[in-house]
Amino acid sequence: SCYQLWGGRFSQKPHQALQALNNSLPYDSRLYADDLDASKAYAEALHRAGHLDAAEADKLVKSLELLRFDWVEGGVKFQPGDEDVHTVNERLLVEITGELGQRLHTGRSRNDQVVTDMKLWMRKAIRETLGRVSRVIETATRQAEENLGVLMPGYTHLQRAQTVQFSHWLLSHAFALREDAKRLIELRERANVLPLGSGALAGNPLGIDRLWLAERLGFSGVTPNSMHAVGDRDFVVDFIYCCSLVSLHLSRLAEDLIIYSTKEFNFIRLDDSFSSGSSLMPQKRNPDSLELIRGISGVITSNLTGIMMTIKGTPSTYNKDLQFDKEYCFQSFDKLSQVLEVTDGVLQTMQVQRDAMESALSTDMLATDWAYYLVKKGIPFRQAHHFIGKVVSLAEERGVGITEVPLGELQVICPAFGSDIASVADYANNVSQYDVIGGTASASVVEQLRLLKKFAKEL
Ligand code: ARG
Repeated sequence: SCYQLWGGRFSQKPHQALQALNNSLPYDSRLYADDLDASKAYAEALHRAGHLDAAEADKLVKSLELLRFDWVEGGVKFQPGDEDVHTVNERLLVEITGELGQRLHTGRSRNDQVVTDMKLWMRKAIRETLGRVSRVIETATRQAEENLGVLMPGYTHLQRAQTVQFSHWLLSHAFALREDAKRLIELRERANVLPLGSGALAGNPLGIDRLWLAERLGFSGVTPNSMHAVGDRDFVVDFIYCCSLVSLHLSRLAEDLIIYSTKEFNFIRLDDSFSSGSSLMPQKRNPDSLELIRGISGVITSNLTGIMMTIKGTPSTYNKDLQFDKEYCFQSFDKLSQVLEVTDGVLQTMQVQRDAMESALSTDMLATDWAYYLVKKGIPFRQAHHFIGKVVSLAEERGVGITEVPLGELQVICPAFGSDIASVADYANNVSQYDVIGGTASASVVEQLRLLKKFAKEL
């Protein structure tokens, strides 16, 4: 006969098709350690409330600890009646301790248990994710530092816009990840309130000290409403949202890199270890790594929709729909972990093709700086913009760069042009003028490096 957490009032076992659907072990068994930790604390709380004597509580705690080894060593065998990780842990505990083990669930429900386990799991998941994010930030920072002074065309609408430093571009992605990390840290704090002691929905009538439990399990407080606590999965939504944003940011970085690694651009060269070949075309070298990074963001953001749609129709408190939170949550975490590692590897090993980037610069990208030149001569910006537009159009008509239009003709367009316009032809010099905080001048980029290094180190 199989171990069941319920069944007294039933005359039939669940249909085999329902059992299969209900069985969450394929995805929730990874909560086993969190489930054991929460149960150990709960056994102690039962003792403190007078429902177990000290020896009994101690026996439960030690037996739960033994179970951990069984899990780690792969000694745990599932049985047909095992619905979920909570059932398995209780069954195993009862196998070791008999009747005593049957006392552990006193006043507790899987409803407050599972959400407690999830929060314990999530704390670790956030810590790991922050570690991976910080490694990507550090790798980007290192590449940016090594390539300080390398210029490239900066794009808006994927059209050549203004000259920027390669490092400035790379760090723009690192700063998006810094915001993601802050978001995860905020979530970790907000989610860190203990649901245990909420029972099935009404709370706990047996004198369980929730504040003690919270402290024992490292929570900063307790949930204030038991009905809210057992039905609340907002922290899971938040987590998947955070994962989604990271994945979107990686996707945008990947998209840039896919474009930059084409033969047409050739700004970067992907390492062989992050490229794939074609089964048909011998010459091909495809950026599969980057495409997978880009593609995963679809999977993760669909999980965000998935969890929200799961919650949408549920009435108050716990409903079994919520069991699916774990599939969305764990898959998002796992996929994100993979792509963060691949991203890190791509950034570590890619070659920055300085010459290709710098020879892609063209004089039309000086147009804005030419307008500023006229501004410095006292021309209102809107007029300066117009005059330079005329210069660009003239140059285009002749099929030459703006620097090749003779001074005399420039002066016909605007008399404020002088021979010193020739000095506004040096890309590096132009970049160095963008020295505002956040700009692309070297001093500003160095300051960005400092901020990111400090952030990653403290993470
Ligand atoms: N495996 C369930 C879940 O993950 C645990 C809670 C079950 N509670 C219940 N009343 N059936 O959601």
